[in-house]
Amino acid sequence: MNDDLPIIEPFRIKTVEPIRMTTREERERCIRAAGWNLFRLHARDVLIDLLTDSGTGAMSAEQWAALVRADESYAGALSYDRFEASVREVFGLDHVIPTHQGRAAEHLLFHQLVGPGDVVLSNTHFDTTRANVEDRGATAVDLPCPEGADTGALFPFKGNVDLVALERRLEEDAGRVALVVMTLTNNAGGGQPVSLANLAAVRRLCDRSGVPLVIDACRFAENAWLMKQREPGLAGVSVDSVVRRIFAYADACTMSAKKDGLANIGGFLACRDETLAARLRDRLVVTEGFPTYGGMSGRDLEAVARGLREVLDEDYLRYRHASIAYVCERLAARGVPVLVPPGGHAIFLDAGRFLPHLSWRRYPGQALAVELYLEGGIRACEIGSLMMAGRDPHTGREVPAKHELVRLAIPRRTYTQSHMDFLIEIVSRVWRRREEIEGMAIESAPEVLRHFGARLLRVPAAEPQSV
Ligand SMILES: Cc1ncc(COP(=O)(O)O)c(C=O)c1O
Repeated sequence: MNDDLPIIEPFRIKTVEPIRMTTREERERCIRAAGWNLFRLHARDVLIDLLTDSGTGAMSAEQWAALVRADESYAGALSYDRFEASVREVFGLDHVIPTHQGRAAEHLLFHQLVGPGDVVLSNTHFDTTRANVEDRGATAVDLPCPEGADTGALFPFKGNVDLVALERRLEEDAGRVALVVMTLTNNAGGGQPVSLANLAAVRRLCDRSGVPLVIDACRFAENAWLMKQREPGLAGVSVDSVVRRIFAYADACTMSAKKDGLANIGGFLACRDETLAARLRDRLVVTEGFPTYGGMSGRDLEAVARGLREVLDEDYLRYRHASIAYVCERLAARGVPVLVPPGGHAIFLDAGRFLPHLSWRRYPGQALAVELYLEGGIRACEIGSLMMAGRDPHTGREVPAKHELVRLAIPRRTYTQSHMDFLIEIVSRVWRRREEIEGMAIESAPEVLRHFGARLLRVPAAEPQSV
């Protein structure tokens, strides 16, 4: 296709779901009642929902048709055979264990491979991955590449692991490193891809240290597409071949099919080692279900079996990335601080630079996300100090997150280009009146994962002088 043509969705629409227009007064009432927390809003009060790309995509006509064909037998279902064949064909890993979603696969695998006192090294652990490592009494260590620290730097593979730091930790913690986990793309680091060269180097380091390499495969197709676009030597290689090259480096992978499985629920883990697979299946029966359905219905198995193949369609991947890059580039051209280059599944606004008059204690990411809702009914997700602040182990005081970001996650095959134009306009309007935007403070919050349940207050930008 000619690159000068407008971006169009490579599908037509067969079923529609209305979204509700609201007035600014209604949105004021809704967000106030929700304690200024977008997680507490009713979905019916949201116009364009960019809270997450997980499980929120649209299924194809073929996926819906497959649902009707599904075999719901408890054992030996045909749907499982189709699911297993699809995972084997796409990833090249022989042993396939179905689970109800990604974190269940992490739980099962880490129960076998990680123990108290161990260390797990990663480009960046996603939060459920970290929680499952820590649940085993082990330590999760993130070693992102230094280029990822600057949201404005145009490095093509900001999802890479820092190879120097990885080599050092593998030596320093020899005997304690249970696994290396590579997250593709790096969700917590801005949906940025990992390069094939980085993965190959990680494999060599793992071989030298005798440590297994696990890939968190949630966004494997988006990562493969970005490799094909950005990595020398891959432009002429088909995406399915790039995927096979990626997973040739892995001993195992965990997968949430709610992302690049193009399904609303589901997951799996896959590995090469038969003995490990047998142990995993023994545990699977206790926690998830019989090995030929795991935590899924036959219908779910069918949706994922097809989704894994459909996601490799290069027209789809080209359109998906073009649409995300379109928003990112147009916002950047208007001066809006965005994380560049555009990642695989979302546009990230740098709220720290967007609202420099708000300190991290005024939660600029949350303040910006609230304004996007008030301005145009858009629901985004703060990934900053409300969600990710840490604690100083010595003083117990809260310390800020590395970045104050707002993630606009794009559900797959769900919104159209005109929704993207609307989004650009709403962000731009908020940008134009950025200096008036007030800060946020926490009124009450749960101890764990506070961003989900917190109630907040709007407060003046200036902080009270301490006496
Ligand atoms: C990189 C990554 N790993 C793991 C998970 C966990 O998957 P699930 O939500 O299906 O449990 C997610 C979910 O967002 C993710 O983004």
